[in-house]
Amino acid sequence: MATLVHISDLHFGRTSPQLIDGLRRSLADIEPNLVIISGDLTQRARSREFQAAGTFLDSLQWPCLVIPGNHDIPAYNLAERIISPWRKWHQYLRYPLEPIMDNGSYIALGINSTRRFSSFTDWSRGRISEAQSNTAAEIFIRQPADKLRVLVIHHPFWLPRQYLHRHVIGGRDEAIRAMKKAGVDIILSGHVHFAYNHILEGLIISHSGTTFSDRLMKKSPNSFNIVQGDRKSLTIETREWQGTAFAPVGRQLFVRDQDDWAEKS
Ligand SMILES: [Fe+2]
Ligand SMILES: [Fe+2]
Repeated sequence: MATLVHISDLHFGRTSPQLIDGLRRSLADIEPNLVIISGDLTQRARSREFQAAGTFLDSLQWPCLVIPGNHDIPAYNLAERIISPWRKWHQYLRYPLEPIMDNGSYIALGINSTRRFSSFTDWSRGRISEAQSNTAAEIFIRQPADKLRVLVIHHPFWLPRQYLHRHVIGGRDEAIRAMKKAGVDIILSGHVHFAYNHILEGLIISHSGTTFSDRLMKKSPNSFNIVQGDRKSLTIETREWQGTAFAPVGRQLFVRDQDDWAEKS
């Protein structure tokens, strides 16, 4: 059985040491197989923020799967964003932009959905390309039938009504069809700083809030999720910051029947 801790939107530059310590205590209790960080490690892609993020990641004693978010490339330095958006990522972090972690009982694959520019006024809207979908699908489809298949990507595949103005990821419909065909079980994301779980096309869509930054959205508390189980059933427990520690606030059970996941009440 896999125990995956999903944290997100760390935003070093806007973090609270108290919450970072709280997360460390929680991780020591949980002892996860893998810590998944779904992007936005920094606030403004500054060197000192990447340095702090790198120091934090290096201090964790568990395997980590780390992907970037839109805040991890320069927002205001247009020349750097266009010419060498990932320079600091590679300078300060020892993580590839599209990692794979495979431990036998699960495979987790990260896709970089951040784009240096966009046809929309809001350049920070993410996208998954057909090539990225196809590459991921080819890897997932080769996996044994009982291995949990986890996709990690910063931008959301689904949003609750009150967050629709943030927009779902570009290329969503084509990608979800490809992921479904490839047997992906769960998609983990961040970006909107709000924790929720949802079933889309028979896949579980799960979001973590911002785990320890003060960039709280509509007063949603800091949070992270624990995803635990196998390809037959998964529980997702959300833990929120309650002043002195992260505490469980919700636990949802999902079961897989044929090729579709459903929530079991
Ligand atoms: Fe963020
Ligand atoms: Fe983001």
